[in-house]
Amino acid sequence: ERILKVDQILSEFLLNKEELRDVMKRMQWEMDRGLRLETHDQASIKMLPTYVCSTPEGSEVGDFLALDLGGTNFRVMLVKVGEDEEGCWKVETKHHMYSIPEDAMTGTAEMLFDYIAECISDFLDKHHIKHKKLPLGFTFSFPVRHEDLDKGILLNWTKGFKASGAEGNNVVGLLRDAIKRRGDFEMDVVAMVNDTVATMISCYYEDRSCEVGMIVGTGCNACYMEEMRTVELVEGEEGRMCVNTEWGAFGANGELEEFRLEYDRVVDETSLNPGEQLYEKLISGKYMGELVRLVLMKLVNEDLLFNGEASDQLKTRGSFETRFVSQIESDTGDRKQIYNILSTLGVLPSELDCDVVRLACESVSTRAAHMCGAGLAGVINRMRDHRRQEALKITVGIDGSVYKLHPRFQERFHKVVRELTPHCDITFIQSEEGSGRGAALISAVACKMAAVMY
Ligand code: BG6
Ligand code: GLC
Repeated sequence: ERILKVDQILSEFLLNKEELRDVMKRMQWEMDRGLRLETHDQASIKMLPTYVCSTPEGSEVGDFLALDLGGTNFRVMLVKVGEDEEGCWKVETKHHMYSIPEDAMTGTAEMLFDYIAECISDFLDKHHIKHKKLPLGFTFSFPVRHEDLDKGILLNWTKGFKASGAEGNNVVGLLRDAIKRRGDFEMDVVAMVNDTVATMISCYYEDRSCEVGMIVGTGCNACYMEEMRTVELVEGEEGRMCVNTEWGAFGANGELEEFRLEYDRVVDETSLNPGEQLYEKLISGKYMGELVRLVLMKLVNEDLLFNGEASDQLKTRGSFETRFVSQIESDTGDRKQIYNILSTLGVLPSELDCDVVRLACESVSTRAAHMCGAGLAGVINRMRDHRRQEALKITVGIDGSVYKLHPRFQERFHKVVRELTPHCDITFIQSEEGSGRGAALISAVACKMAAVMY
């Protein structure tokens, strides 16, 4: 009987095929509005041109520095771009991870970029390359309105960042200024890309059909190669340009209201950016654990879990980490893993409690996979329509902790994408070290173009 009541509460998370198709359709509609000049400003999905274009004509070889800011970790990397006997890319990396202190994330832009410059300086010392003026590719995983590959303003922060004085400013300029302020090394910042774009590019060198990049990690977003003639924000008709959809912002015009539940509203209201990134908040790792915690609290309050009593930890916002969701759903059936996690949260669960907690995790993470699948299906169906192809063969490069670490996310996600995309042959590949390699490769191409131009 208890399980029946639990099921009833959790059934709100279920989405049937019709609803998913509906999400996909609304998403496509909004993507279209984002691309068009007259409607761009009102559209919730911004469809930002990246100035990364199709068919690059070769690239420079040599050493590149790559920065990766916006995921779980901030990383500095040294990437060697070269060619081997078969004419393929060969890339080797050295990398170092730095954690960004909370006060740098939410202080001033100067503090944040000074910290980044400090990390670069440390990295150059470690590898004895401080004297070299290397070309630098910057993976910056936030919505940027580009004017060129190496110039673009930050529209708004997302995820856990909120450094003041950055929004509305040229991000590459902020980085260059910070490097100048330090004065102990020089860098030539040649390209800035979103993490979805870096992921797509790095996979492209393995598989030339890779024309979509996606992240399901701290945040959730996708990019893809769009026909130039439909990218109205940029002049030119020929070829394709990569568009950073910033689909995480979907929902800002009320498109998701009938799908958002009480838990989603609480997560949104207590976030750093209320009212924004509503689609992302249904899916990504920054919010998944907290959603589960709110569901557990609801079940406790309905007297359906832990004898109706929650520990202080469980009552605390943020205490239920997203990795717990993966770990709980990885439990082999003996409930050991679930029991251990719950005890660290200060509750002593019965066997039935463990099963209920697992069901709550499954409900939240399955909805995330399905919602996200509807989004990707929207992008892929759009590509097929616009290319007027009977059957589209396409590869999607993917990265992010939820996609990589959750035990069931991939299978549920792939299933929905394939169900919603008839006549498409889709291959999914995981990117390894994607952002570093991607940023370096695009920088290498940019250097070559610059060399030809000047
Ligand atoms: C990393 C990429 O592997 O994945 C980053 O290098 C990206 O650029 C990140 O932002 C996304 O995943 P998460 O889980 O770290 O947000
Ligand atoms: C957020 C950012 C977006 C990024 C995504 C994944 O949605 O706005 O730019 O790609 O997170 O990191």
